[in-house]
Amino acid sequence: MAGHFRSTHPRSAFPDLPQFSGFMKPCRFEGEVQNLEIRGEIPSEVDGTFYRVMPDPQLSPLIENDPWFNGDGNISAFRIKDGHCHFKQKYVRTEKFVKEREAKRALLGKYRNKFTDAVEFKVRSTANTNVLFFNGRLLACKEDSPPYSLDPETLETIGLEGFDGQLPCLTFTAHPKLDGDELLCFGYEAKGDGTPDVCYFTIDSTGKFTETVWLVAPIVAMIHDFAITKNWVLFPIIPQICDFERMKKGGEYCYTVNAYEDDSGNLVFDLPLTDKNTIAAKLLRFTFDPHSTDLDLPESQIIGSEDCEFPRIDERFSGKRHVHAFFDLMDPRLGTDFGTIAPRMGGGHPLYNALGHLDYKSMKIQKYFPGRTHLVQEPVFIPRKGADTAEGDGWVVALVNNYATMGSELHIVDTRDFEKSQAVIDLPVRLRAGLHGNWVDA
Ligand SMILES: [Fe+2]
Repeated sequence: MAGHFRSTHPRSAFPDLPQFSGFMKPCRFEGEVQNLEIRGEIPSEVDGTFYRVMPDPQLSPLIENDPWFNGDGNISAFRIKDGHCHFKQKYVRTEKFVKEREAKRALLGKYRNKFTDAVEFKVRSTANTNVLFFNGRLLACKEDSPPYSLDPETLETIGLEGFDGQLPCLTFTAHPKLDGDELLCFGYEAKGDGTPDVCYFTIDSTGKFTETVWLVAPIVAMIHDFAITKNWVLFPIIPQICDFERMKKGGEYCYTVNAYEDDSGNLVFDLPLTDKNTIAAKLLRFTFDPHSTDLDLPESQIIGSEDCEFPRIDERFSGKRHVHAFFDLMDPRLGTDFGTIAPRMGGGHPLYNALGHLDYKSMKIQKYFPGRTHLVQEPVFIPRKGADTAEGDGWVVALVNNYATMGSELHIVDTRDFEKSQAVIDLPVRLRAGLHGNWVDA
């Protein structure tokens, strides 16, 4: 009968909360769009795919005030070739996604709390934190579980990646590091929720596990990211800032920029850190003797006082001395039109209005400001073609939210002329705030 709706189904609308409203309204799109509109020009040397992942709940959550980063992993792929860009997007078919699609309602409960789930899951992964290419497969990672592997062309889910039975632990970081052809990885709470065990392992380019080391952390805390050098592996365990309350306020996990060994054998470790009273992060450098018996770290040095997050480097220099870093930053002096953005942005996610490029030789930060009604997502570096191109010489690609059009744009910036855009690629869809991505050369 017309006129009245009487629902016999569970509620399908998303809760009227910031993390599900405005630009943060779940995207839920799967499909492809060929030949996206481009303003400016994509250099023909740029030939590869930019993959990124966003938490994007396919269904209204079981727990109403679910944080934005608990959504299902939806993978976007931007294939760039001959100056054109083609777009593809597909959800990872996690156990959670498949069971919920079948049930037509959410079944997973609170973030990292299996006792609130409506059904029992073998693996609670949302596969929503990072997507990276290794040994012919894309790995969609969430640090509480093994990764899911995907076909890099079709984005179809192959399955939970157990590395032919070699994975020694229950968890796998979302931030493994490539060292040449080798993937350096770890899992924390590696023997199950709440365990202090950390498992470090390395995988060679053929997928064979080459080294496994079990460690016990002094406290059980999130170890979201880590750093490697020629001889050392560093695990930042910083419970004050890696906590759930901070994440809910929009602050992110604890990231690392890079670490390396200097000429005297000291470790140099760069990372953005916040103090306890604010979520604004400064870029800090710790320099210390790894053989020292002093349990306190020497005082850190501030190398960037801008509010920054999502640091990335030219990853050919991972574990080696780096002199360039890229990151998101918030500089209110750049002229962002917060009056337009605020009522449309939804909430819960981190807010940055520009990309930063720090050159350690001059210690100057160059800024790319994408527009007055725009906020930026994580920057990813694309090296310029040629075997010996210098560190940091290439392009930076980042997804940008345009709150005037309520559409997403992919901006490409040449690092030789960082304050100007090289190309802006317009998407006919709005992509929610994402976490991490990576460039994969053709
Ligand atoms: Fe992360």
